[in-house]
Amino acid sequence: LASIRVDISQLSEGDQLTVLWQGKPVFIRWRTEAEIAAARQTDVSSLPDPEAYNENLGDDIPASDENRALAAPEGAGYADGAILVQMGVCTHLGCVPLGEAGDFNGWFCPCHGSHYDTAGRIRRGPAPRNLPIPVASFVDDTTIQLG
Ligand code: FES
Repeated sequence: LASIRVDISQLSEGDQLTVLWQGKPVFIRWRTEAEIAAARQTDVSSLPDPEAYNENLGDDIPASDENRALAAPEGAGYADGAILVQMGVCTHLGCVPLGEAGDFNGWFCPCHGSHYDTAGRIRRGPAPRNLPIPVASFVDDTTIQLG
C-alpha cells in the first residue's frame, strides 16, 4: 500500500499532529518527558492488553513503552522515546480518541469511555486492544514515513 511522508518540523514537544493515511487518522505525538516517564513506569504485566501491536516489530511483542515508541535519529533533538506514532482509531468500535484526556492523561474515547495511557495502551473501558502502531520510520530529523 502507498506510503506517505509527513513533515513534523512544526511539531513541538507536547503536541500532536493528526494526518489521514489510508483513510484513517494517524496520531504523531511528541511526548513530554513526564508522559514518557509515566508510560515507562507502568508494569506491563498490569496492562489489560499485553501486546505492543507494533507493525515494525512483529507479533507477540510485549507492550512496553520502548516497544511502542518510534526510534528517532540521534542528534535530532528528541528525548529517547519521545515520538509516538499510532492509529487514531479506537479499538472498540472505531471512534477517534481525544488527546491529552482520560484517566491516564493519554487518549480518551468519548463514544463509550475508553481510556488509553500516554503510550496509547488501553487501561480502562470497553476497548479490547492497544492503539495499533503502523509501519513508520524517520526519513530525516523532521520527516516520518508511514508505510
Ligand atoms: Fe471507543 Fe467505543 S468506540 S469506546
